[in-house]
Amino acid sequence: MIRVLFVCLGNICRSPMAEAVFQHMVNEADLSAHIQIDSAGTGDWHVGEVAHPKTRSVLQKHHIPYDGRARQLTPQDWVNFDYIMAMDTSNLGGIMAYCPKSAKVESDGHYLINNKPIEAKLFLSYANADKTTSIPEVPDPYYNGKYDETYDLVTIGSKALLRYIRKKHGI
Ligand code: 4NP
Repeated sequence: MIRVLFVCLGNICRSPMAEAVFQHMVNEADLSAHIQIDSAGTGDWHVGEVAHPKTRSVLQKHHIPYDGRARQLTPQDWVNFDYIMAMDTSNLGGIMAYCPKSAKVESDGHYLINNKPIEAKLFLSYANADKTTSIPEVPDPYYNGKYDETYDLVTIGSKALLRYIRKKHGI
């Protein structure tokens, strides 16, 4: 099982949207037996809440289901997941704050923990490598109100990440 975690600040706007969009793509590709998906926030303000109403309405508009609740990132997430995807550099800082001391740095964003390889990187870095977008981070719609633009970026990022995972794991 390949385990993917999307991380933002509040876990009510960007990372739940990425979780829902990526899960939908995985289902459409008939890969749900191979890839497990979750999301979390570095902050704890919204723990237990449903996603932001505008995130839910954008997902509904695109016929993508989502019924997750917000949770906070934990140190155990480094042990439980293979891909930890940060929406922006500040989120990546929050993720790195929980990186186990025993982690071996393999290369940029690639780590080894108990011989398990983990990629903890900016979510859009795969799309940047594919040149499907040059935007490095997913801006926070909680502050700018641009939920449709967030959906478009999350979709581009998800396509690139799924392409990468399929190739890397031969699925
Ligand atoms: P998110 O957006 O990180 O994309 O879920 C935010 C949601 C809530 C807050 C900040 C960002 N907040 O400060 O409550």
